[in-house]
Amino acid sequence: MANRGTTRPNSPNTGNKICQFKLVLLGESAVGKPSLVLRFVKGQFHEFQESTIGGFTDSADFLTQTVCLDDTTVLFEIWDTAGQEQHRRLAPMYCRGAQTAIVVYDITNEESFASAKNWAEELQRQACPDIVIALSGNKADLANKRAVDFQEVQPYADDNSLLFMKTSAKTSMNVNEMFMAIAKKLPKNEPRNAGANSARGRGVALTEPIQPTRSQCCSN
Ligand code: GTP
Ligand code: MG
Repeated sequence: MANRGTTRPNSPNTGNKICQFKLVLLGESAVGKPSLVLRFVKGQFHEFQESTIGGFTDSADFLTQTVCLDDTTVLFEIWDTAGQEQHRRLAPMYCRGAQTAIVVYDITNEESFASAKNWAEELQRQACPDIVIALSGNKADLANKRAVDFQEVQPYADDNSLLFMKTSAKTSMNVNEMFMAIAKKLPKNEPRNAGANSARGRGVALTEPIQPTRSQCCSN
């Protein structure tokens, strides 16, 4: 099979154009945001992941990973945000300039779904108009403790143009598939040099400079 459906850590196809996108993770505390990223980027899962204050727990502000499509290599620059109430004010800074977001909830926690809906709506109001938003119902391995009914989520996702995936960072269910689906949906007009315009340590736009006003990405 060609490259479709595979992720290629740091090994873009020779000759492919490379498109770089800033992706931000949002959602309540303990839903599994960095766990999803560590599964996608490093193939790892930690039962006792430390809570995020800003950036990844290994001190990286962001992690990168590539997804190879037929003629394009999509390079994701992935920023995590802290779900804890006292750190939420930092989220808009991380969201600035993001072309895509994954809003995560925990399928065993109804409140986390309510919070995810708030984040998705906030992004749609404030973020870049063509932002691609995925909704991840994470911890799908805990199906016997499920508190949020998928029958309720799918219509919500459809009505709000969100890519909905049931994921498990623990078993890796649908993790690569979610990033692949996002990669396919993102507009890929301008080839970008991987690493160029890196937002390391700044949390700023990769494409155009964006003023830190309330009308920009997920200000709250
Ligand atoms: P904050 O940093 O507080 O915002 O939380 P978070 O969203 O970053 O969650 P984190 O990735 O730290 O995960 C919280 C806990 O859930 C950790 O103990 C993880 O091991 C666990 N966890 C994450 N994903 C899954 C999953 O898919 N299934 C199960 N069973 N546990 C998971
Ligand atoms: Mg975290």
